[in-house]
Amino acid sequence: MDIMDKRHFQLAPDLTICRIINGMWQVAGGHGHIDHELAMEDMQRYHDSGFTTWDLADIYGPAETFIGEFRRRLLREKGKQELDKIQTCTKWVPQPSRITRSMVDNGIEAALRRMDVSSLDLLQFHWWDYNNPYYMDALKYLSDLKDKGNIRHLGLTNFDTEHLQTITESGIAITSNQIQYSIIDKRPEVKMIPFCKKHNISLLTYGTLCGGLLSEKYLGKPEPPITDLDTLSLQKYKKMIDKWGDWNLFQRLLLVLDSIAKKHKVSISNVATNYILSKATVAGVIIGVRLGIVNHIDDNNNIFSFSLDDSDRDSIDEVGKNANNLYEIIGDCGEEYR
Ligand SMILES: NC(=O)c1ccc[n+]([C@@H]2O[C@H](COP(=O)([O-])OP(=O)(O)OC[C@H]3O[C@@H](n4cnc5c(N)ncnc54)[C@H](OP(=O)(O)O)[C@@H]3O)[C@@H](O)[C@H]2O)c1
Repeated sequence: MDIMDKRHFQLAPDLTICRIINGMWQVAGGHGHIDHELAMEDMQRYHDSGFTTWDLADIYGPAETFIGEFRRRLLREKGKQELDKIQTCTKWVPQPSRITRSMVDNGIEAALRRMDVSSLDLLQFHWWDYNNPYYMDALKYLSDLKDKGNIRHLGLTNFDTEHLQTITESGIAITSNQIQYSIIDKRPEVKMIPFCKKHNISLLTYGTLCGGLLSEKYLGKPEPPITDLDTLSLQKYKKMIDKWGDWNLFQRLLLVLDSIAKKHKVSISNVATNYILSKATVAGVIIGVRLGIVNHIDDNNNIFSFSLDDSDRDSIDEVGKNANNLYEIIGDCGEEYR
């Protein structure tokens, strides 16, 4: 398989994505100041390097308008052929209340306008509260918009296996579910992956680098107090690591990842990403990008240059045997949001 084949995944017959997806939560605040112009320039860099797929949401600050502006620039400066290379996966995240057809129509209409597209490649639906049953109404109306062509594919985010099953059994076609999945958080392996395998649903994963904690930057370093972690993402996943084990165990994991990384002449982050990319049903790993602040484009291009072997995977899994069972502590995928 050549590098280009490894880089892409056919999520649907008419939608092929880059398997490393640029995550835009980081433009929503809490990750450093985002300079608009520098952000646009960085978006162009990602695009030119083949990272053409973006993950965003209506609740990620200016993310959807950034996409709209980037698309217009791309068309103006590079033409339609370049514009057609972009794929965008946004989310609709309504407050849990009674959902009417016009609420859904208005929500999707606003996303189309902000992103300057006639149809959404993938719309991922999030719902905060299963006790509020209106999520089924929302999905029915979203399905209708798919039939009308405003949405090309319907996905979910942070749904657990039980509710994913309820939705699929009601006849609503779901392309993907976006969930947290990393060497630290392997909850999807309990129920989600077996279900997705059976029903041909793809996973898009986040938290795979634990906000950057799974990198050389933290190897051999003392445990950082939460106040020293300067992004919301680092803070979020440090708490996850605390639930998983302690800093000593995390250092043992980093040491193992480092030796595997050296063997393949790549980085710890590359190994952590590759480990998840090679899991069943995983279509893509979303890696957060701090546009205009720092980019890891060159390093992340190496993800496609190697494959982990069984002994690599075994030594990673060996460390995990000493960790707590996050499925027992937190529950199935997405439970941390409820
Ligand atoms: N559906 C949901 O509920 C949900 C929740 C969270 C996230 N997401 C999505 O997933 C995306 C990913 O965000 P995340 O918060 O989970 O973070 P993440 O992807 O685990 O970590 C991103 C951070 O990792 C560091 N990094 C990236 N490549 C690296 C490399 N090659 N070497 C060293 N460090 C590297 C960077 O840190 P520095 O910038 O500090 O260098 C980057 O900001 C979000 O933007 C969003 O699109 C979705």
